[in-house]
Amino acid sequence: MKPESENPREPQRFVFSSFAAAVILLGLAGCSKPLPEQGTQAALLYASRCGQCHRAYSPRSLTAAMWQIQMQVMETKMQEQGVPPLTGWERDTILNYLARNAAQE
Ligand code: HEC
Repeated sequence: MKPESENPREPQRFVFSSFAAAVILLGLAGCSKPLPEQGTQAALLYASRCGQCHRAYSPRSLTAAMWQIQMQVMETKMQEQGVPPLTGWERDTILNYLARNAAQE
């Protein structure tokens, strides 16, 4: 009796679809993760000013020192794209919010 014929493509397809599913799940988890201090003025301001061109990144993704630099880079981007500049108050509020919730060095 002949052994069951194997389709050599099958395992590969399984690995690929598991991988794709994991990527999709991770993506969804990333998006639905709430920002810290949800519902506060600072969190709302951050989400509205820093979530218009891309999703509002988690404050924990950078350290306070890195946020300081990133904010400057983004203010240049905003200027290039014709987005209204941050007021002094907005910049302070967002930077303090990010620093409070930033990754530890
Ligand atoms: C005018 C559109 C725009 C606004 C508003 C904006 N960003 Fe960005 N941001 C970008 C673009 C475009 C990139 C992609 C990276 C690049 O081109 O340098 C980016 C990338 C980033 C990154 C990822 C950098 C990396 O290396 O992966 C962070 C973090 C970030 N922005 C934070 C902010 C914060 C904080 C604010 C609010 C102050 C903000 N962004 C507002 C356009 C914007």
